[in-house]
Amino acid sequence: QRFAVVVVGAGPAGLTVGCVLRAAGVDCLVLETGTRESVEQRPRAGVIEEPVVRGLERGLAGNLLERARRDTACEFRFDGERHPFGYHELTGGHHWVYPQQFLVTDLVREYADVRGGAVRFGVRDVRVHDLDGDRPSVSYLCPESGHRKVVGCDFVAGCDGARGVTRMAVAGRARVARHDYGIGWLALLAQAPPSADRVLFGCHPDGFAGQMPRSPEVTRYYLQCPPGDDPESWPHERVWAELHRRLAAAGAEPLTEGALIEKRVLDMHDYVTEPMAFGRLYLAGDAAHLVAPIAAKGLNLALHDAFALGDAFVERLLRGDEAGLAGYSESRLRQVWDYQEFSQWLSELYHGGATGDPFRAGTALARLRRLFSSPATAAAFAERYLGTAARY
Ligand code: APR
Repeated sequence: QRFAVVVVGAGPAGLTVGCVLRAAGVDCLVLETGTRESVEQRPRAGVIEEPVVRGLERGLAGNLLERARRDTACEFRFDGERHPFGYHELTGGHHWVYPQQFLVTDLVREYADVRGGAVRFGVRDVRVHDLDGDRPSVSYLCPESGHRKVVGCDFVAGCDGARGVTRMAVAGRARVARHDYGIGWLALLAQAPPSADRVLFGCHPDGFAGQMPRSPEVTRYYLQCPPGDDPESWPHERVWAELHRRLAAAGAEPLTEGALIEKRVLDMHDYVTEPMAFGRLYLAGDAAHLVAPIAAKGLNLALHDAFALGDAFVERLLRGDEAGLAGYSESRLRQVWDYQEFSQWLSELYHGGATGDPFRAGTALARLRRLFSSPATAAAFAERYLGTAARY
């Protein structure tokens, strides 16, 4: 069996690469260890940048444009006050709120049901072979027979996330730059409508707290905690007491509480794998880089990668043009590093006040105040927060 491209992983990155390829009539196979139901139900990110939505507007944005909410402002809370930041007013731009599982569901349907793309769910023990030659292959264990199946291809797209096999395949060859923030975030999903119609960032001396509306029924909250903390040490009452305290501000509506349907501790860290291409293997999304959810950039970077990689494959396979693939790693790494830097800048704003270091608390507060006193700082924040257009 042979395909032009084998895509490893059916997350947002892999499915988008697959959709771009199928739309151009390129034959490809997507391999995924999970079931279709599990990838369609995994709640993770949910804030999508306008430049990414422009990229999805090649037949992939129909439901999103119909159902997603447009966000026009966020709100910082510090010093016991509300500080709304109206980025739409400032720049004309906005964010789209569309839970990742809805997007993945749309992408699976488009790829497999509409475009007839080949996909195998539930595969085990995926391996990549001969990446340095011009006839690479990917093998996997069939869920039904348990037999190993080998698929030849021209290119492999490594879209299997942070714990996938394609990252492992380049370990030792890739340079991996890693950054640990030394903090944890308790990531929560509450079965409750949002407490405010916009994203809230609570910068409190006891730690950061955030609220991100997801849908009329479900709201994401974050609470800064020690890295490696046990989610079980955060019972319902403690979570809500801490959220109320850290998001308190004069004139703010009280939070709407609800059952906590997800409770995970994230050890906040970033990594960047360089380069993002090794022979016939091209990495995209979390397989190449992880950005802590500080600025909601992970899903957006994954999709920017996928458009660039999908288009570059099409140019190479249909028109023999190598330029897109040759420049893929370098051009994607520019935006990846740019967003990593922005996340670090924002992290100090969120967490500096809770370090226990009065000097960092002072500079973090100055940074926060400057957002609301300097139009140039506000514009710079809005530009990166809203996302930058990547050329595909
Ligand atoms: N073989 C095949 N598939 C695999 C393997 C493997 N060995 N290992 C993992 N996978 C699958 C996972 O089950 C998952 O469905 O690869 C997919 C990777 O998806 P994500 O982790 O979502 O990564 P990506 O598509 O790069 O999207 C990154 O979306 O999930 C969010 O928080 C994440 O915002 C980030 C962005």
